[in-house]
Amino acid sequence: MKGIVINTLEKALKKLKVKLKREEIIKLLEIPPNSSMGDYAFPCFSLAGLLKESPSEIALKVREKMGNISETDFESINTEGPYLNFFFNRKSLAKKIVWEAINQREKYGRRDIGKKSKVVVEFSSPNIAKPFGIGHLRSTIIGNSIANICEFQGHKVIKMNYLGDWGTQFGKMIFGFEKFGNEEKLQKNPTKHMLEIYVKANAKKYEDDARSWFKKLEEGDRKAVTFWRAFKELSLEQFKDLYKKMNIVFDVYSGESMYNKEMVDVIKELKEKKLLQKSEGALIVDLKKYNLGVSLIQKSDGATLYATRDLAAAISRYKKYKFDKMVYEVGQEQKLHFKQLFKILELMGYNWAKNCLHVEHGLYLGKDGKKFATRKGKTIFMEDILNDTIKLAKKEIKARTKRISKEDLDDRSMKVALAAIFYGDLKNNRKNNIIFNLKKFVSFEGDTGPYILYSYARASSILRKTKFDGKFDVLELHEKEIELVKKLLQFSDVAQEAYNTLNPSVIANYVFQLSKNFNEFYHACPVIGSKEEAFRLALVEAFRIVSKNSLLLLGIHPLEEM
Ligand code: ARG
Repeated sequence: MKGIVINTLEKALKKLKVKLKREEIIKLLEIPPNSSMGDYAFPCFSLAGLLKESPSEIALKVREKMGNISETDFESINTEGPYLNFFFNRKSLAKKIVWEAINQREKYGRRDIGKKSKVVVEFSSPNIAKPFGIGHLRSTIIGNSIANICEFQGHKVIKMNYLGDWGTQFGKMIFGFEKFGNEEKLQKNPTKHMLEIYVKANAKKYEDDARSWFKKLEEGDRKAVTFWRAFKELSLEQFKDLYKKMNIVFDVYSGESMYNKEMVDVIKELKEKKLLQKSEGALIVDLKKYNLGVSLIQKSDGATLYATRDLAAAISRYKKYKFDKMVYEVGQEQKLHFKQLFKILELMGYNWAKNCLHVEHGLYLGKDGKKFATRKGKTIFMEDILNDTIKLAKKEIKARTKRISKEDLDDRSMKVALAAIFYGDLKNNRKNNIIFNLKKFVSFEGDTGPYILYSYARASSILRKTKFDGKFDVLELHEKEIELVKKLLQFSDVAQEAYNTLNPSVIANYVFQLSKNFNEFYHACPVIGSKEEAFRLALVEAFRIVSKNSLLLLGIHPLEEM
């Protein structure tokens, strides 16, 4: 429908000999805040310079050139001062949008912008031998959604987890396990025991021991490697368990430990390209010229660093995937690191460095506005958070449902809990710091995940009560039906905007509005038994499809019953 508006404008402007590209028209086109001002509006301010007339006069002229308009497409096209206001023929609009949604289903709203080109999305990337904390939860939720959003636009997406499984902290862990570790405790509760060891071994007095153990690890010492491998396997098992619960799937598990050979090559290459400098026995790349400080590449004892591994990883990923774009979904505290990384790749002559992107996010804060990750000195475990949320969800569900089997209750509360956590995060612009407030997240009312699931389930339940054969005609339209139809119409633009900005909140905010429109429609218009039943059922089905498409982009799985 938007296409028809654009075509109409294009034709009229051509007659006026105004050269305005289609993309420019699209950019100028607005959705008015209020439907009495039309379904779309086109402001003529920017044409004033070209035509040397006032915007209002131009609006009149453009309208004149449109002549008689098609009644099946438009109810009217008016001018109001400098604006052209387009009013669709409501019935054709409703018929077309609903028809498209119920026929295209999971394809509704897709555009083939990506043309199968390859995007690597790296996200989650927790650190081995440390608990999966809330910091990595944001990257997991946002990164997963970004991968879905790119896939929806026709990209081939590689979802990658880059485990923090190398570095001096493993020196601490190996040393610590020898000194304080207990095999039995490790097997029984790996995460907690590994954390215990880490806390003890993290003391200043053990720094030298830790360093020498990491050195041994990098040199391939048998004992060091055996311990390291055990930590890695135990952690990974727990991470995978969590991902499974969250319905998160990776195409590739990579990690910092995989690039020992490549790092040697990178250092050699940096030397050859005259980018490396000695500084107090260490090797650095000086980026002060670019206002990016210095990047440490090798310590004076020969140990490598986070940056060295990221350089090697990026180069080897490009060799392997020849990606068109690579996204790193990582907290904004690593901003400088990524700026340095991309700059060094660029200085090394890698043209593709410009296609690497740090997609950052802010912090989770507690209700008191303080950093949430470690409260009162205690680390917050993802497991505990999930279990607390499930408990809250169970309470809400039980309060609303009379009879429910234990199995259904378990399944439902898990889905509601995940929707609550995912949506609670994704409704915010990812760059913002957000208050992590589980009680609010789990509420069935207001701007929450459960509210959206509930609206979806309501639509499913209406459709379960009757047989809908997909045939319908549009009779009279209620204002609330028109509003819902117009919201459905926006989905495709919304998905594209989320893609352009790599910001899932655009979709989250949309699906909340959509659910509100649906509930208002439902309260105003009886469906089953009304004389408009066929159209209204189709509208309910269209809502269900678009709501589901939106939720899946967010990584949230809808529930048919709630
Ligand atoms: N494991 C890192 C951390 O927890 C995040 C890794 C981000 N990705 C990267 N390519 N550096 O801080």
